[in-house]
Amino acid sequence: MGLKWRFLTLVSVVVFANFHGHNHADEAPNYSFIQEATSDPQVSFYDYIIIGRGAAGCPLAATLSTRDAKVLVLERGGSPYSNTTKIRMENFITTLIDRSPDSFSQALVSEDGVPGKRARLLGGGTAINVGFYLRGETSFLELIGLDEAFARESYEWVEKKLVNKPVSLEWQSAVRNGLLEAGVLPDNGFTYAHINGTKTSGTVFDRKGNRHTAADLLGYADPRRIRMEIL
Ligand SMILES: Cc1cc2nc3c(=O)[nH]c(=O)nc-3n(C[C@H](O)[C@H](O)[C@H](O)COP(=O)(O)OP(=O)(O)OC[C@H]3O[C@@H](n4cnc5c(N)ncnc54)[C@H](O)[C@@H]3O)c2cc1C
Ligand SMILES: *[C@@H]1O[C@H](CO)[C@@H](O)[C@H](O)[C@H]1NC(C)=O
Ligand SMILES: *[C@@H]1O[C@H](CO)[C@@H](O)[C@H](O)[C@H]1NC(C)=O
Ligand SMILES: *[C@@H]1O[C@H](CO)[C@@H](O)[C@H](O)[C@H]1NC(C)=O
Repeated sequence: MGLKWRFLTLVSVVVFANFHGHNHADEAPNYSFIQEATSDPQVSFYDYIIIGRGAAGCPLAATLSTRDAKVLVLERGGSPYSNTTKIRMENFITTLIDRSPDSFSQALVSEDGVPGKRARLLGGGTAINVGFYLRGETSFLELIGLDEAFARESYEWVEKKLVNKPVSLEWQSAVRNGLLEAGVLPDNGFTYAHINGTKTSGTVFDRKGNRHTAADLLGYADPRRIRMEIL
């Protein structure tokens, strides 16, 4: 009974905290600057052409467009927000293993024979992945020579648009308690920090269970300087 009550208390604390916490990313962004490639003028000039609008391409395109550069982004797939069923959290596996011609994910086998999946749509991997988010660890930033203050600013930039505190259901709470009881310590609570122990990190699913993707970062773009094309 003691354990059960502890579970219930934890669940209500998490739900309460989440309800009153800040969920930044509850609305899909405005994509009016996306065009079909066939509507292209015959000749146009750009400072940068980015191929692939995934986890890397979206923030890069958005940033360049705000630094006085004219940017063209080419993407082979459509928008993840075109089908509200596929971006539901409970449909994550179905979306990932979907083998239909218009699937968000494409099966591939790596050079050393490992079968896997890769995304083929706007948002890239963030539109089909598990959606787990945390910040890089300090020692890693040092290793790659990235300024810590700049990295923190960048993390906040991303988190503001697409990362949420997850809604902890009963089974997540059970796993969490199990880890703590098995001695995976300390108990870090909710944190984006890449640290040892047990913790709850961020997710790209909002509290309504809808996925957000790197495409949301285009909300930072200067629409006058960016052109998105679906091939
Ligand atoms: C199943 C799964 C689960 C994962 N879970 C997590 C997780 O929980 N947390 C986490 O942080 N990471 C996770 N990852 C990893 C993460 O999603 C990737 O590391 C990340 O998306 C890679 O970013 P990228 O920009 O390099 O490539 P992508 O995000 O894959 O973007 C590449 C883009 O290029 C496009 N493209 C490819 N070829 C062409 C072409 N010829 N012409 C035009 N466009 C093209 C694709 O359609 C795609 O949009 C997961 C990955 C997978 C597959
Ligand atoms: C979307 O953005 C365009 C400008 O890029 C604007 O004209 C349009 O009104 C916006 N639509 C909505 C629904 O906000
Ligand atoms: C959306 O995706 C679901 C699941 O893959 C599929 O059953 C449904 O037909 C799709 N809807 C549209 C309008 O394409
Ligand atoms: C985390 O644990 C590993 C393995 O025990 C250890 O090598 C590492 O230094 C720890 N990291 C931190 C930040 O405590």
